[in-house]
Amino acid sequence: MKFFIDTADVQEIRAAHALGILDGVTTNPSLVAKTGRPFREVIAEILEICKGPVSVEVVATETEAMLAEAQEISTMGENVVIKLPVTADGLRATKTLSDRGVPVNNTLCFSALQALMSAKAGAAYISPFVGRLDDVAHNGMELIHDIRTIYDNYGYTTEILVASIRHPMHVLESAQIGADVCTIPFGVFDKLIKHPLTDLGLEAFLSDWAQTGESVLSS
Ligand code: E4P
Repeated sequence: MKFFIDTADVQEIRAAHALGILDGVTTNPSLVAKTGRPFREVIAEILEICKGPVSVEVVATETEAMLAEAQEISTMGENVVIKLPVTADGLRATKTLSDRGVPVNNTLCFSALQALMSAKAGAAYISPFVGRLDDVAHNGMELIHDIRTIYDNYGYTTEILVASIRHPMHVLESAQIGADVCTIPFGVFDKLIKHPLTDLGLEAFLSDWAQTGESVLSS
């Protein structure tokens, strides 16, 4: 499973990258706005840190205007992925870009049928938002199950990129289902590693070892 980080904060991206397990980055207009920094400057810095796929979203809502923005965003770096919403306009733009070999991440997916349309349009990634579904009392992970089944039924290669992740269980269940990618907020990354029994166990190992007076290194 690939791990992306869901942020436009370069400090967070650097910290996740330093773990050595970061495969890519997803941004969106809200995340870029939150940095308070100029759009082009932030994206350029992200592309310098992460050599894996970096999703950058258009803000136009009509196909032709989406394509014009996509064209400019594509020039920012070789590893840029164009993020488009799964609207009718977004799907038309997805088909055009995919036919040209430009990777697209279809975002704001809340139904398996939207995911099916996205795969048919040739998107490289589909981003179902599990946390936002949970927020309105729908089971977000059920959507991941459904998309996995449909894609496997027909051999679609569009990657399931689980988005709007709120806690480690979303990551665990995504891996159990066989989703291709999780895009994880910085705060959840840390929780994937932490376990109180690991901390307690390490404390005991070190205090027992200290009593031996030994050293692991010979000199
Ligand atoms: C996906 O790529 C989005 O950036 C993101 O996962 C949205 O998550 P949110 O519901 O926490 O805003």
